Amino acid sequence: MDSDGATLKQQAAAAALEHVVDGMVLGLGSGSTAEAFVTALAARHAAGHVRDICGVPTSERTAALARRLGVPLTTLEQRPRLDLAIDGADEVDPALQLIKGRGGALLREKVVAASAERFVVIVDDTKLVDRLGQRMPLPVELVAFATPLVARRLQHLGGTPTLRRTSAGDPFITDEGHVILDTQFAPIDDPEALAAHIAAIPGVAAHGLFVALASAVIIAEPTGVRWRRR
Ligand code: A5P
Repeated sequence: MDSDGATLKQQAAAAALEHVVDGMVLGLGSGSTAEAFVTALAARHAAGHVRDICGVPTSERTAALARRLGVPLTTLEQRPRLDLAIDGADEVDPALQLIKGRGGALLREKVVAASAERFVVIVDDTKLVDRLGQRMPLPVELVAFATPLVARRLQHLGGTPTLRRTSAGDPFITDEGHVILDTQFAPIDDPEALAAHIAAIPGVAAHGLFVALASAVIIAEPTGVRWRRR
């Protein structure tokens, strides 16, 4: 990421931070933009400008960052209802539908987003698309045992699935112990219908289509920061 990109992510994170108030239970997303938010949140918390907050992290990586920076953490068992979840996205369409999961944390990200009263997405303007599926394949997280079945069904839906691998060539394993099929679709005409079809395949744990979940998207672009609300 170039420094301009990093700055835009920080600006989106700073705009989201304005909506954090004392006592909130927060969903803490994953990825570089969400990490910019956790870092800014930690600084404000350490300075005593926001008190009595705690966060539910969406990945082990975010949990480690939050611990290192002194952001208090909790669990969905202890705090099942979150006030506000903040996370990045890989693609955002005009209806605030998202593709997420490039970092592999999609399952926990979706559970945390769905547990929050408000789910606010923070992106730079490179993430905006006319139709989902334009920039990247759709991540589908599944139990490894079901890979042949899920791959075949995804092909029937028009997708081209590829097992995600680490740089060492091993299957990428998520925090929940699953594998991921990155599935290329031609731009997706009906995200809601595709989401329902994929969710119904036995063995699928989660997919990266986030439909009707985002309350708002904060977009940082070189000319400034703007909001899109549902
Ligand atoms: C993590 O699994 C993803 O859903 C991230 O939210 C997404 O990849 C955005 O990451 P960046 O903020 O690093 O672009």
